[in-house]
Amino acid sequence: MSLEKKHVLVTGGAGFVGSNIVEKLLNSDVSVTVLDNLSTGKFENIEEFISNSNFKFIKGDICDFDTCLIALEGIDFVCHQAALGSVPRSIEFPHKTHEVNATGFLNMLHASKEKGIKRFVYASSSSVYGDSSKSPKIEGEEGNLLSPYAVTKQLNEKYASVYSQLHGIETIGLRYFNIFGPKQDPNGVYAAVIPKFISRLRSGEDVIINGDGLQTRDFTYVKNAVNANYLSLFTENKEATGKVYNVACNDSFTLNYVVESLKEGLLKKGIQSKSNVIFGPERQGDIKHSLANINAIKNYLGYKPLYSFQEGVNEYIGSFL
Ligand SMILES: NC(=O)c1ccc[n+]([C@@H]2O[C@H](COP(=O)([O-])OP(=O)(O)OC[C@H]3O[C@@H](n4cnc5c(N)ncnc54)[C@H](O)[C@@H]3O)[C@@H](O)[C@H]2O)c1
Repeated sequence: MSLEKKHVLVTGGAGFVGSNIVEKLLNSDVSVTVLDNLSTGKFENIEEFISNSNFKFIKGDICDFDTCLIALEGIDFVCHQAALGSVPRSIEFPHKTHEVNATGFLNMLHASKEKGIKRFVYASSSSVYGDSSKSPKIEGEEGNLLSPYAVTKQLNEKYASVYSQLHGIETIGLRYFNIFGPKQDPNGVYAAVIPKFISRLRSGEDVIINGDGLQTRDFTYVKNAVNANYLSLFTENKEATGKVYNVACNDSFTLNYVVESLKEGLLKKGIQSKSNVIFGPERQGDIKHSLANINAIKNYLGYKPLYSFQEGVNEYIGSFL
């Protein structure tokens, strides 16, 4: 497929994953419009693209249906990343999470159908596996949900499936497993562990691990997630659409191991961390182990992890030192 004349709308494009997707698309000569209300994203994540004639930024809210319609003018494909992330935030603010992640999602999906958009790729989450103790996690074998956030992501998948059947819009849902990398916000109570740990290790503050640190996650470098989005947007395999896929590495590590790896990575760059590791209470809504089976995305989309956890950590640390 020639990508040169293609135009993709990236919602949430000023956020962590979204801005990394934008970079890849612009480097591939695809035109990009970003729709983002800058609630958790930052203008500085997209500042470098502003001078690119293939790039346009709309500051707006997906909770407003008319804004969604306007943003879709001239668009071929949608890459929907906008959402309020974080399980704890959703437990504290379920209404706001629902408004953005469920109603905002439906706004974008319905507006896309109204505008005749061909393909709608969207960010789902490993949280849809809920309390399932099966390992590795396989699409189709989900457990009971553990948070309002997970409810909204499952709802996204249901709506996408229904719209795909009713209206023929090609949807692809990507269940991200703990993505990390450049442009991820290390600050605030809802920050993800890897950027937060690195920030604390660098400043010498205590690193706080919720629980015993033996919980495991399939940590996935952001360039793997970007690649999954790219393959989903442009695949010509019709069989691949109307489905959801795990996006991960099929390799998991304990939080204790992650802290040690980050310390080592920083040491290689000449930074010896003086931080202590402190164990706090377990977090509500968390699962103990999370490892993904990635056979479906390999088979349908030709995905493979471009970066292992360690390679991702090395590049990430190198990116800001
Ligand atoms: N980072 C992860 O590990 C992870 C894991 C699973 C799923 N996800 C999903 O991936 C997507 C991207 O996550 P991220 O980590 O980049 O988060 P992020 O907070 O960095 O990005 C989300 C972006 O959406 C924007 N946004 C929020 N509400 C909006 C609204 N009402 N209108 C327009 N824009 C709005 C924010 O300003 C932000 O730029 C989200 O859908 C998230 O749920 C992320």
